[in-house]
Amino acid sequence: MSPVVAEQPHEERVKAVLDGFRSATGRDPDGVWEAAGRVNLIGEHTDYNDGFVMPFALTRSALVAASRRQDDRVQVTSLDLGERTSTGLDEFSPFDSPGAPARVWSDYLVGCLWALQEAGHQIGGLDLVMASSVPVGAGLSSSAAIECATVAAACDLFELDISPIDRAKIARHAENAYVGAPTGLLDQAASTLCTEGHALFMDCRSLETRQVPLDLPAAGLEILVLDTRTPHSHVDGEYAARRAACDRASELLGVEALRDVTDLEGALAAVGAGVSGQEGEELIRRVRHVVTEDERVLQVVSLAEQGRFRDLAPLLDASHASMRDDFEITVPTVDLAVETARQAGALGARMTGGGFGGCVIALCEAGEGERIGASVAEAFAEASFGEPTWFTVVPAAGARRVR
Ligand code: GLA
Repeated sequence: MSPVVAEQPHEERVKAVLDGFRSATGRDPDGVWEAAGRVNLIGEHTDYNDGFVMPFALTRSALVAASRRQDDRVQVTSLDLGERTSTGLDEFSPFDSPGAPARVWSDYLVGCLWALQEAGHQIGGLDLVMASSVPVGAGLSSSAAIECATVAAACDLFELDISPIDRAKIARHAENAYVGAPTGLLDQAASTLCTEGHALFMDCRSLETRQVPLDLPAAGLEILVLDTRTPHSHVDGEYAARRAACDRASELLGVEALRDVTDLEGALAAVGAGVSGQEGEELIRRVRHVVTEDERVLQVVSLAEQGRFRDLAPLLDASHASMRDDFEITVPTVDLAVETARQAGALGARMTGGGFGGCVIALCEAGEGERIGASVAEAFAEASFGEPTWFTVVPAAGARRVR
């Protein structure tokens, strides 16, 4: 059966990126910055509806070693891919600019420098060497991790006084306007603002945040991440289609965002009256997901703050059902992983992240995760799906300088 994916010790990862920087540039970096991947405990597709989210950061992270250059070039090396790109500070090409080339991995880093410039910050040339342990395309925010580590590096090296939430916004602007993925703020906020041992509760309208202690081991629990290895992408159409549906529903309802819906039944009736047939029914389902998901986030926050972690389980299940049936963003591998994890003894489980593949999280009794992961792998083999991988996680720190 598939292995539990072991994590390389942090010190070794830092050393590898330092060595990689030296061989790419022939000198020592000015520093090394780290930003985490995340799982979202609950609150899916609520961020761009001005709603609530509750992610926590992973120890799986992106490391970026960086140095200022004398000239105006940005040279980016990926140790994971063994590739390098180089661009000038006056050669930036956002995805929608005339003649822009197809997007590549380094656009996530380069886009952050562009976004800093766009926001009026003075920057110079940089050598950047990156390595990441966040699985790519798994719904664990590998792109936000790279972006937020890059922004942290640039802020320190160019002495930019930018608050953590504004750093997250700059990283998101890079993703939206440079890479061309129309995402919300969840991932970059998690990667920047999370603290060890806590989940981050964020109101995506006011951008107020609260650190919610999440000491699951003390409660005899753990969270298992199951990577279905069904890759997904936010640059393609489905994510944007969900966003467009939410905007349309808000407009129909005369609210600024679905966050403002207070009478769910009334809102569903109004949507049904405004749009007929199957289209209307679909829009009703989309609205119901977002509104009920916001409610679930608030319930999870309240329960977690009371230390009632076991009581989160039914809310995780309900969130999954809502993503599957109403928002329609799950896929067969993801649903099978959730069902099998539940049958194998997980207390509750749900897909995490944007959807259409990626990872499932399962709340389990401590020590049970590995066995539950193996059960999912067996079910995948029986269904002739590819092999999943799995690992348990604890809430880790957000973006910071590590060297
Ligand atoms: C992706 C996006 C986020 C958020 C989630 C769904 O991760 O990047 O902004 O919308 O999907 O909750």
